[in-house]
Order: sequence, then structure tokens, then C-alpha cells
Amino acid sequence: MASQPQFQRPVSSDWRARAERLSDADMEAFWMPFTSNREFKSKRRLLVGAAGCYYTAEDGSKKYDTLSGLWCASFGHGRPEIAEAIAEAARTLDYAPPFQYAHPLGFELANRVKQFTPAGLDHVFFTNSGSESADTAIKIAKGYWARRGRPEKNRLIGRVKGYHGVNVGGTSVGGIEPNRAGFGELMATGHLPHTLLEENRFSRGCPEHGADLADVLEQQIQDAGAETIAAVMVEPMSGSAGVIVPPKGYLERLAAICRKHDILLIFDEVLTGFGRLGATFGAELFGVTPDILTMAKNITNGSVPMGAVAVTDAIHDAFMETSPLEYDVEFRHGYTYSAHPLACAAGLAALDVMERDGLVARAAELAPYFEDQLHNLKGLKHIVDIRNLGLAGAFQIEALPGEPGKRPWQIAMAAWDRGLYVRFGGDTVQLGPPFIAEKADIDHICNVLADIIPSID
Ligand SMILES: Cc1ncc(COP(=O)(O)O)c(C=O)c1O
Repeated sequence: MASQPQFQRPVSSDWRARAERLSDADMEAFWMPFTSNREFKSKRRLLVGAAGCYYTAEDGSKKYDTLSGLWCASFGHGRPEIAEAIAEAARTLDYAPPFQYAHPLGFELANRVKQFTPAGLDHVFFTNSGSESADTAIKIAKGYWARRGRPEKNRLIGRVKGYHGVNVGGTSVGGIEPNRAGFGELMATGHLPHTLLEENRFSRGCPEHGADLADVLEQQIQDAGAETIAAVMVEPMSGSAGVIVPPKGYLERLAAICRKHDILLIFDEVLTGFGRLGATFGAELFGVTPDILTMAKNITNGSVPMGAVAVTDAIHDAFMETSPLEYDVEFRHGYTYSAHPLACAAGLAALDVMERDGLVARAAELAPYFEDQLHNLKGLKHIVDIRNLGLAGAFQIEALPGEPGKRPWQIAMAAWDRGLYVRFGGDTVQLGPPFIAEKADIDHICNVLADIIPSID
């Protein structure tokens, strides 16, 4: 008889001890993502636990989670219902092939997601991340027009400073220049201008100026021809580039132009989905329904990787109707881990928690207080703009010549030493507290940052 697999290795739940055992040499093998590896490995910041709004660092100190992980653990860490659901799924059906076979939780979660997406976006395709959702949406848009007999309608238009993850499609449609530089041409794409305007500095919520920037799309359509453009893809609010809030009327105008020219509109709601803006989706907040909506992050409260793409009947049916044979694969796309049982279990539990605890409403309730506290920091040395929407906010920090990222990095490192985990990116420090944050937490975050920001060089 073949020997049984051995699982006798002692498993310690003491992650602090495990962190302590990691020598400097042990740190070399892991090539960390989106990290200055050399800097990190010389001043490591290891997390060994999380509960509620706090992380625990390897020295046992608590760090307030000012970004809900990476905008993804918005319902608070360590939710026992989610942990239980994941464990139960692991015990029951650790893995199920999603190609040509399935399990019940995939259907349950698709129906659950459909309860929250805008009316008409009723078909849900599962991925494992925001990046995969972005690239899936791009392929759906291109495939849709090909299925409708218009394969030349194939080009994507994104926006400068947009972020759609790091896969080839999303990197191309995205407009954060350093993320694209250095890889040669990925996918030919057009870009609309971003909406960060000098005259909008220190706006509270949606700024007054800039709706007309949507009209640049008309120009690009004239230049390239609507018959060559498959879709426009934007985040309702650009998060990763530093909380760039759409000007009043901008998204409505963009949607109208897309409709007029028969161009699909894709909203990337990976970051904004499931409550960040104080509404379930940005689409709901702005009253603009896209043809395709991507999501990830909060869908499992960050506990298991998962993403999803919701599409209209018209798009879904285009794939079904143009696949004549009963056994045709209508969309030749999918991942080994699409609708993974653990992710589906986590998603069902997370959305239950979100709904049961009224967390979207709670985010909306806390948002005005968050806005006030953020804007109280106006006038502090180095702060050249403050932006916010819902429970998302950013301080733009005056760039040192040639080194826009230095001060935000210094601020975040000082904040770490003062008990805050803070996200820094480009020339901004970004905040996205958990929806369960208290007003006193917001005060604390802002007080610490008010001390730190002017104190750096
Ligand atoms: C709008 C948007 N799209 C896509 C992504 C990529 O998601 P992931 O890192 O899960 O691939 C992000 C991540 O922050 C995002 O904010």
C-alpha cells in the first residue's frame, strides 16, 4: 500500500515566534510585490495578526489599519463568521474544477452578488483578483463586438492615472505611467485625460470643475472612429493614483457619449465596490449604470482572493446566441480557481456580514466626519491638496524635486513607528479606514498625521 501523506510537521499558531525565526537570509527568497525589496528587507515590517481595525506587528505592537488592508478588509479583520465559512468549505470541498463542472456555492454567490449590482447587470463571471477582473472585462468587451460581427471594434480607451491592476490588459488601459514604463508596448490603447485640476484643490467630495473633460472622448472618437472602439474603462473614483474624485457630472457625460456612439462602458469597481463610497457601488452613487462592472477586494472582505465581473443580458446573450452547438464553450476564458469553494464561502459570509451589520450605511454615516477631519489638516506644511469621497481620502504631498515618492514614504514610516499602517503611493498618502471605524479612530489617525507631516523635511 502506498504510504499516506504525512502532515506531522508541527504547526504553530504563534506567528510572532515564526517571524522571529526569520533571519535576514530567509528574507531573500520572497520577491515582494510592489515593494522596494531592498528597503523593506533592511527595515522589515512584518504583520503577524489582525483583529477589528488593528494589525499586530512582530514586536507585538498594534498598528491601526488606515487602509482596510489594501482597501479590501473593509468590514474589519478576523470576522469569525468568515473564518468559519472558509474552514467549513475546506473540510467539505477543498477544490472543485470550474470548467464543465461546478459546486453549489458558485451559483449561490453569483445570485448574492446580483442582488447588489445595479439592475440589469445580472450575469457574474468569477476571477481571483482585481487584475483578472480587469482583463476579463476587456476580453468580454472585445469578444462581444466580435460576436456581434464587428471584430474591428476592438480598441479600449482608459484614462490617465487610471489603475486596473497589473495584467497585460489592465496595465495597458491603466494610466499610471511608471506602471507601464519599462515593458515596451503591451496593448494599444487610448487614454482620456485625468480629472485632477488645479482649481479643484481641497474640494470636499466631487469637485465643481472638469465635467467637460469627458468631452475629450468625443474628440478621440472622431479621430479613431467609433467603429474601432470597443469600450471605455474607468474607475468611478480612481483610488490607487491617490483618490481622484470625479468632477460633478463627469461620469454622466462620459456614459452619455458612450451610449451615443455605441461604445461599451466598463466601471472598474474593484476598489469602490461593496461600500467604500458609502453606496454599494459607485454606479449606484452616481446613478450611472455601466455595461460591465468589475469587482474584487471587499467581496470576501479580503480573506480569500476573489474577483468578479458582472455584465448585462445583452452581453451575456451575445456569447450564448452565437455559439450554435449545445456543447460549445461560449466564452473561452476562465481560471483554475474561478469560483473556488473557499472564496465562494468567504464571499457569501462576507456579504452576509456587510448586509447584517448595515456596513454600507455605516460607511455613509461616517463619511462626513471623515471629510471634516481630513480637511482640518489643510494649511499644514507639505499638504498641497486633500481629496475625499465616502470613506476614501488622500493627502497630496508637495513633491521633492525629482523624488515625488520620498515624503509620502517618510510619512508612512514615521506613522508605522507611531502605531499606524498607512498606504503611500506616488505623491500621496491614502486613507481608507474600515467601515467599523469609530470617530475617535478618525481623530487619532488625523492627529498622528498632523504631527508627522509637517515634521519631515
Ligand atoms: C480599480 C482597481 N482595479 C484593479 C485592481 C487590481 O486588483 P488586484 O491587486 O486584486 O489584482 C485594483 C487594486 O487596487 C484597483 O484598485
